[in-house]
Amino acid sequence: MAVVTVPDKNLTLSDTAEIKSHLASIGIDYERWENQRNVSPDASAEEILDAYSDEIEQMKAKGGYVTADVIDIKPDIPNLETMLDKFRPEHWHDEDEVRFIVKGCGIFHIAPKDANVVAVKMMAGDMIRVPRGTYHWFNLDESRTVRAIRLFQDTAGWTPIYTESGLEKNY
Ligand SMILES: [Fe+2]
Repeated sequence: MAVVTVPDKNLTLSDTAEIKSHLASIGIDYERWENQRNVSPDASAEEILDAYSDEIEQMKAKGGYVTADVIDIKPDIPNLETMLDKFRPEHWHDEDEVRFIVKGCGIFHIAPKDANVVAVKMMAGDMIRVPRGTYHWFNLDESRTVRAIRLFQDTAGWTPIYTESGLEKNY
């Protein structure tokens, strides 16, 4: 389950309802998708998309997403650090960033315009929707492993647009 921290307030949230409500207050949707027992985290991408097809269809209906895929990041991927360097500086997209974690861990930092920076450590079973235009950045933890379902409205909009604020260096 996710852990949410607000570093500037020394606040840590690990209760699902508290996480949901804090993230909602800054415009971020968070859900637990509890059926991960039905599929191995190491199953094929097709099997994973199939196991979560109900949730994916609901998200598509709600957010206008047209495609879903499974991204698989492992520590031995060539040029992993170069790839991560694209997502570690603060940026935004002209497209929602929707991720459901199947395996491993991904850390989102959200920088709302009028509230403190929030770090969301996403674990298996956690779904996050970062709406288009939201300032954020992304990194892996020391396991350098994440497997996640991604949903897209239009993959062309997913290119990061950097704010060049340097804010990420403080967290
Ligand atoms: Fe992003």
